[in-house]
Amino acid sequence: PDTLTILGLESSCDDTAAAIVRLGPEECAQILSNVVSSQTDLHARFGGVVPEIAARAHVEKLDLCTETALADAGLRLADCDAVAVTAGPGLIGGVLAGVMFARGLATAAGLPLLGVNHLAGHALTPRLTDGLGFPYLMLLVSGGHCQFLLVRGADDFMRLGTTIDDAPGEAFDKTARILGLAQPGGPSVEAEARSGDPGRFALPRPLLNRPGCDLSFSGLKTAVLRERDALMRDGALARQDRADLCAGFQAAICDVLAEKSRRAIALARDAGAGAFAVAGGVAANGPIRAALVRVADEAGLPFSAPPLALCTDNAAMIAWAGIERFRLGHRDDPGLTARPRWPL
Ligand code: KG4
Ligand code: ZN
Repeated sequence: PDTLTILGLESSCDDTAAAIVRLGPEECAQILSNVVSSQTDLHARFGGVVPEIAARAHVEKLDLCTETALADAGLRLADCDAVAVTAGPGLIGGVLAGVMFARGLATAAGLPLLGVNHLAGHALTPRLTDGLGFPYLMLLVSGGHCQFLLVRGADDFMRLGTTIDDAPGEAFDKTARILGLAQPGGPSVEAEARSGDPGRFALPRPLLNRPGCDLSFSGLKTAVLRERDALMRDGALARQDRADLCAGFQAAICDVLAEKSRRAIALARDAGAGAFAVAGGVAANGPIRAALVRVADEAGLPFSAPPLALCTDNAAMIAWAGIERFRLGHRDDPGLTARPRWPL
């Protein structure tokens, strides 16, 4: 067939999402619909994602998200060529909810089923948005992940480095919690940092002096906690203290990501990488993105970052990864199972 239309489903964390992506002649890909139902409000008062609540909400929302995605695209399920679903990694309850739902849809409509790795979804997005060719370097920076991947094929990833503890998004979220800012922490800390002095507090740049591309962020969060406690001994945290801590924290993350990216680019270059791409919620951060653009420029490599809505969790990336798998001839068993842990 000269077109391929795939329904994608995502439920591995706190967003329930459904989307339809079509690949037309001459590699022309089109997002026909992209529906995301965020659970942020449900988890807000707990200060983080509660897996049990997330799973129940996914079960409730998958149906409506799918119907909306089909309606937005003006299609029926039978018009799709396959159903792609995040089969891991992620919170087991949510992944299971999505996989079971997708199994039901595929069986009912007689469509092939494709289990997609959530990380592959993020990592392949620049091919959907910018048509990147293999190989390229991908920095995946989200709430749950931080890794440098050499993307050699839709099914061929080589990890050049990873965080040894927290993901940067997690560090943003914890820092926000420490400073009494709203969740998700990334946008709150970024907003607060705008009026802050990044040089006031000497915060660490973990692992910068160690060779290689591995990263670490938990010490940074602990350093913020220590500074906060020191400030609080003299009373409440002043508005400016908070802004300065946010600015210092964000500058440290920028420095670490920039330097490790330089090293990863050097390795990826030797392997023929033609671009440096980023994805994941943290790539939405203005100063971080600017720092990464500078690193790519210095190295003379084209930079690619999906638009915001495709940087954070979504189902268009799952539908697209499904298209890539489908083209490679992969089909999953109707008994597809969820894999909470699934390294690329
Ligand atoms: O990719 P994502 O939507 O979900 C996964 O973790 O897979 O990323 C969410 C993470 C959260 O930790 C959030 O605080 C962070 O991305 N984030 C940001 C920004 N926007 C979202 N971090 C820094 N700056 C931002 N503007
Ligand atoms: Zn994600």
